[in-house]
Amino acid sequence: MTQSTADAHILVSMTYASRANPDVSAKDFNEILKQAQENNTANGITGMLIFNKNYFLQTIEGPRAQINRLLYSLLADQRHRDLQVIDTHEITSRKWAKWSMNYASPTQDNAAIYLKYSTTVDFNPYLLNAGSSSDLMRELSSQKG
Ligand SMILES: Cc1cc2nc3c(=O)[nH]c(=O)nc-3n(C[C@H](O)[C@H](O)[C@H](O)COP(=O)(O)O)c2cc1C
Repeated sequence: MTQSTADAHILVSMTYASRANPDVSAKDFNEILKQAQENNTANGITGMLIFNKNYFLQTIEGPRAQINRLLYSLLADQRHRDLQVIDTHEITSRKWAKWSMNYASPTQDNAAIYLKYSTTVDFNPYLLNAGSSSDLMRELSSQKG
């Protein structure tokens, strides 16, 4: 597929939730993160990925064509399923400009933040609206320091 760069100034942000496949291990999580960081650096994509053993919540931001291309890859990726788009909108500046892919997973230190955004015992990103998803990622990122 030939890709025009004339539209590279049109930036979008997309946030989705997905369910980790049961056979995905901690080692796989690290590989996903590494692959995301390497590819995103090459593709002008930035963002934030949250994961626990059951779910992913990710924001990706960058040129619209690149984000759409990544969406096709994500939909075909067997390491997760039930991808549900929570939000997508055009942006004039990036929220995650400093990170090829920032990340957070549950720790003792951030447990209170997850709890604040959970309506059930377990954290479940399918129950978050766009605003809460964004606030959660921002808080988890600031907590990391
Ligand atoms: C939860 C999750 C998040 C991912 N995030 C990214 C990402 O930010 N950037 C990316 O290039 N690939 C990401 N991937 C991997 C893509 O689905 C796909 O495997 C990859 O882009 C293909 O890269 P390749 O063509 O270099 O093999 C993610 C996969 C999963 C399961």
